[in-house]
Amino acid sequence: MDAIALLKADHKTVESLFRRFEQAGQNAKKLKRKLVDQMVRELAVHAVIEEEIFYPTVRAQVEKLNDDVLEALEEHHVVKWLLTELENLPPEAERFDAKVKVLIENVRTHVKEEEQELFPQVRRAFTPSELKDMAAALTLAKKAAPTRPHPRAPDTPPGNIVAGAMSSVLDMGKDAVDAARRKVQELTSSSTNKRRRGKRSGQGSKRGLRAQVKGAAQNLGVESPYLM
Ligand SMILES: [Fe+2]
Repeated sequence: MDAIALLKADHKTVESLFRRFEQAGQNAKKLKRKLVDQMVRELAVHAVIEEEIFYPTVRAQVEKLNDDVLEALEEHHVVKWLLTELENLPPEAERFDAKVKVLIENVRTHVKEEEQELFPQVRRAFTPSELKDMAAALTLAKKAAPTRPHPRAPDTPPGNIVAGAMSSVLDMGKDAVDAARRKVQELTSSSTNKRRRGKRSGQGSKRGLRAQVKGAAQNLGVESPYLM
């Protein structure tokens, strides 16, 4: 699977959640809550992996796609705010269905633009092997991504790599503050800490995965002082 196929598969997953929501009855409150929770999770992760790996790589290699990427980032930003509001809105609320409807409209427009305009140009600009490398990086980023939306967090490198590292740890819920503090210390660390981090990266932890994501981004030419 290459990067485009991977991102399209994500779009398909989300579209199926949208359809199930649209088909749910007026009073299927529990089902609607469950579907929205799944939308929040899927879209939060999908947005982050595009922002950490896909968009920066595209911008670095294809200058003429810069404006398309900037527009996509703004669309993500709007979607993330809607997701944040939906996370805490009870399905009984008067605005719940209306908010989900606007979310669906926004995401469908964004997906259409990506699939019809951005992706074909990306496919032409990268070799099949580069697109496969990108898919590997996206898969890795997916495993380490925050599972909740963070609309106030930076969405471009290097800030989003750092913020993503913090958020993914925070979203895990367990020992959140300590773990995030350790992550920040690691990211701003001395070479001693870098060596220690290298050892941890082989342990399959979420923090180790973040280190691998940074490595993958670096291999794809996404430059950042945090990736050195
Ligand atoms: Fe997107």
